[in-house]
Amino acid sequence: MTVKAVATQPFPDQKPGTSGLRKKVPVFRQPRYVENFVQAIVDCLPDRAGTTLVVGGDGRFLNREVVQTTLKIAAANGFARILVGRGGLLSTPAASCVIRKYGAIGGVVLSASHNPGGPEGDFGIKFNGRNGGPAPEPVTEAIFSRTKVIGEYRIVEADDIDLDTLGDVRLGEATITVIDPVADYAALMETLIDFDAVAALFRSGFRMRFDAMSAVTGPYAVEILERRLGAPAGTVINAEPLPDFGGHHPDPNPVHAHDLMVEMTGPDAPDFGAASDGDGDRNMIVAPHLFVTPSDSLAILAAHAHLAPGYKEGLAGVARSMPTSRAADRVAASLGIPAFETPTGWKFFGNLLDAGRITLCGEESAGTGSNHVREKDGLWAVLLWLNLLAATGKPADQVVRDHWARFGRDYYARHDYEEVESAAAEGLMTALRDKLAGLPGQRIGDLTVEAADDFAYTDPVDGSVTARQGVRILFREDARVVFRLSGTGTVGATLRVYLERFSKDRLDAPTAEMLAPVVAAAEEIAGIARHTGRTEPSVVT
Ligand code: G6P
Ligand code: ZN
Repeated sequence: MTVKAVATQPFPDQKPGTSGLRKKVPVFRQPRYVENFVQAIVDCLPDRAGTTLVVGGDGRFLNREVVQTTLKIAAANGFARILVGRGGLLSTPAASCVIRKYGAIGGVVLSASHNPGGPEGDFGIKFNGRNGGPAPEPVTEAIFSRTKVIGEYRIVEADDIDLDTLGDVRLGEATITVIDPVADYAALMETLIDFDAVAALFRSGFRMRFDAMSAVTGPYAVEILERRLGAPAGTVINAEPLPDFGGHHPDPNPVHAHDLMVEMTGPDAPDFGAASDGDGDRNMIVAPHLFVTPSDSLAILAAHAHLAPGYKEGLAGVARSMPTSRAADRVAASLGIPAFETPTGWKFFGNLLDAGRITLCGEESAGTGSNHVREKDGLWAVLLWLNLLAATGKPADQVVRDHWARFGRDYYARHDYEEVESAAAEGLMTALRDKLAGLPGQRIGDLTVEAADDFAYTDPVDGSVTARQGVRILFREDARVVFRLSGTGTVGATLRVYLERFSKDRLDAPTAEMLAPVVAAAEEIAGIARHTGRTEPSVVT
């Protein structure tokens, strides 16, 4: 086995987005494309000699090949040990767990999350640091800078390693350890959740459906829900990870988890429904005949977390991304704990979690998590829900309705305009920013603008400032609209419009009806149709 230095030239487009480098598979298949990016990550770890690195991915098309390449490059660059999930698999939260548990310097996680996979689908590579969380902006910037000047990569010339057999193998100067991708994660869950109470719930006849969407959480959910907690076989559906996710879009929302929604709204609906995304960090929660918005889910979990062993001391604080509804803030206020508002992107929670300022956090984009890892965690959220259902003895829909009765309801929807021409989307945002100062006091349809700004965040831990994170317009009628461009798309631009309206007493109105005035005001303020040519959103969640 020899280490070879291979001359290369930079690619101009290796700039990581919200969640790492994400491109179409054919882009990653260009010769040297993966090698360059992985070497650039490695180059940004000057203290790597003798350390441990974690490698794994969500099993999508190209996963095994890129795992092999990453192992060979890592082995040529001074790491002592590289932990890799069997089959090249590690869910994103499990990767975070493993990095933390084994004191690794970081991890290379291969995933394009909820984006479709396959030869024409999406692929992604991201780097997580020592704390197990997505690399913060200065690190991703450094990686990007490195990709622009890279002149060579180092790689061990060897046969592919056997990824399907647990244990150690030598590769160059490094030891590769193939680990069970589920074991460490499942052990962590057992410390946080009352497994006895949830097992008793299942024994009592409680019925659940978990849709793994043919993505990475299948093996995790089967082991934890069916084997350890005793849920009946078949509770987990689409449990086998497939390279193309069975042709589906592994995004757990009512549109893409269609079959689950049909079942949960049917005559024989199970007691509880849930789904997770491509790499296992997102979650969807659905009560019988009632979809629980991610924003409500965060608030409900915050209100009940003390019922689970991992959170029995209470919460230090909660955080939500800016476009997430303010439901969690209301819970925080009643608990007398701080609530933080961060930009979109899980990485912004990292400092707050590391500093012990928050215990739970979440995003409207189906992400919920806690201080147990530094990623959002789909299955964990499902388990915490099961814990609260077991502890309260209430049906899931009752839990939601009781929550609204106590705190009021934040009606919420997100309208996405996908694959809009980038220039048109930028034009819309620029025009919007230009008119912000004049908006307060204006009457728009049935609403009056109270305040309008372009969200900027000052990190309370390190003082760093992140500006231009989305335009938010607050109305006097306790409603809000937020506009921002997605940072995770791979084609054109995606405009996201987040719509929200609070009511203390109208708890059972149709969401579309409650939000209609906000939708109208959003169109009038932003001119979506005029700028993009679209009169309807492509996806409403
Ligand atoms: C990823 C990130 C999340 C983020 C989401 C939506 O899942 O991990 O933190 O909320 O993308 O990002 P986008 O920029 O597409 O709205
Ligand atoms: Zn994901």
